[in-house]
Amino acid sequence: MAYDPTENEITRRSFLSRAIVGIGGLIGAVFTGIGGGYFLSPLWHKKKESWVDLGLVKDFREGVPVKVDFTVRKRDAWSTIESRSSAWIVTANLKEFIAFDPKCTHLGCPYRWSDDKKQFLCPCHTATFGIDGKVVSGPPPRPLDRYPTKVVGGHLLILPQKTAEA
Ligand code: FES
Repeated sequence: MAYDPTENEITRRSFLSRAIVGIGGLIGAVFTGIGGGYFLSPLWHKKKESWVDLGLVKDFREGVPVKVDFTVRKRDAWSTIESRSSAWIVTANLKEFIAFDPKCTHLGCPYRWSDDKKQFLCPCHTATFGIDGKVVSGPPPRPLDRYPTKVVGGHLLILPQKTAEA
């Protein structure tokens, strides 16, 4: 069999072009992996609980419900969404706190505390709730919803995710 230099040349060119394509593909795969990981990573990161600081425990008063406004920051994949919310805070001893969702459990109207009647009053359908959040009268099907609370370093923190009565 005779030596054919063009056949050798074609083989070398073919090898080089395949090597270039292969290296290019490898570089593309690496950048796709890095970029894809960056953009997709929020989807597999565990969501952190977002406790909200409502201030010093000593600033609340025993037996007097107080409505506190606060800002909720939620990370939604690549952005942070802020919204305003509020809670009714009740404490009997400045050690244990109850945080009520501010919407009536009937149809979601905002209710208020009456110092005279010592009850929460919902004006929409004249419901009343006790200081413990239990329904005293009216159509609400369940007690007021609550937010989890905890005291850390003398501050009252709440987790603004509704739970049923504890
Ligand atoms: S919404 Fe409160 S009683 Fe109906």
